Amino acid sequence: MLQLLKKYIDEAKEAANLETLESVRLSAMGKSGAITQALKALGKLTPDERKTQGAEINKVKEAFLEAWSARKLALEEQELQKRLFENPVDVSLPPVMTRVGRIHPTSKVIDEVVQIFSQLGFTLEEGPHIETGYNNFTALNIPEHHPARQMHDTFYLPAQDANDETLLRTHTSSVQIRTMQKQKPPIKIIVPGKTFRSDSDQTHTPMFHQIEGLYVDKHVTFQDLKGCLSEFLKAFFELEELPMRFRPSFFPFTEPSAEADIGCKRTAEGVEIGMGLDWLEILGCGMVHPNVLENCGIDSTEYTAYAFGMGVERLAMLKYGTPDLRAFFEGGQRWSQQYGFNPY
Ligand code: DAH
Repeated sequence: MLQLLKKYIDEAKEAANLETLESVRLSAMGKSGAITQALKALGKLTPDERKTQGAEINKVKEAFLEAWSARKLALEEQELQKRLFENPVDVSLPPVMTRVGRIHPTSKVIDEVVQIFSQLGFTLEEGPHIETGYNNFTALNIPEHHPARQMHDTFYLPAQDANDETLLRTHTSSVQIRTMQKQKPPIKIIVPGKTFRSDSDQTHTPMFHQIEGLYVDKHVTFQDLKGCLSEFLKAFFELEELPMRFRPSFFPFTEPSAEADIGCKRTAEGVEIGMGLDWLEILGCGMVHPNVLENCGIDSTEYTAYAFGMGVERLAMLKYGTPDLRAFFEGGQRWSQQYGFNPY
């Protein structure tokens, strides 16, 4: 009988593949396998027989298991090699990146706008969120008690004394002042950043982003402003032709002031930017008021300047069809999966 059982050891050693090996295992060690049965039958033997035969059968069982597991390892390795050979891995391919996080539409638009203006010769400038009343208002030709101050819904910081007025900047225009105070013309800057107003509803959030532009030099004209903004808007919306118009407006820090509109078509799905019968307001701009230049020590008889300012979230909503302003600041995972950009 032992001879009969030992044949399973050879069969395991010679199994051609994992399937055959498994059927050998079942024949030997399965519930009704030969070795299992032989071990079971020991119960019917006399104690002496059981001792000698039991030891023999157990030796065969162990030898079988050893042969079986060695063969299993070898066959698995063979199969892996075969699969690798059939589907070779190209180790020169770039790694598959796990996507951690998304680029927020606000950041994406800031990058794009700064990129376009840097090609038009503007350099990046930034300023602090906490500003003086002087930089945010007074130097920008918005004197105390001027109605424009109230219109800005300003967040004021607790005052240290009567002369101290600090606030969260209500627009990036304050960086115009900071830059003109420390630099001599020509100045050509683009300023992205956070701005704050105590206002919160469907279309307003207490914190939002603006981008400011300023160009100070001899002989800067409104014509230059129009040319620059027209180039920028076409590049930003990726359109060869984009109808534009400048509507007269009012800002205390510019004279004349204008609001720029771009052409659009309103459809059932929303607005489509480009040719169409409608207009969409996109930014405020104008020629910097002589008072503002003088407030910064720049001779307004020698230099002229243009400036413009725009809302980043508005640009993002228009370009990328991102519907809800408030969702920009809620940090929702699903929202950023849908509207964010792949960082790779
Ligand atoms: N600061 C203005 C605002 O927050 C936007 C603006 C308008 C900026 C005209 C400018 C400008 O530089 O020339 O509404």
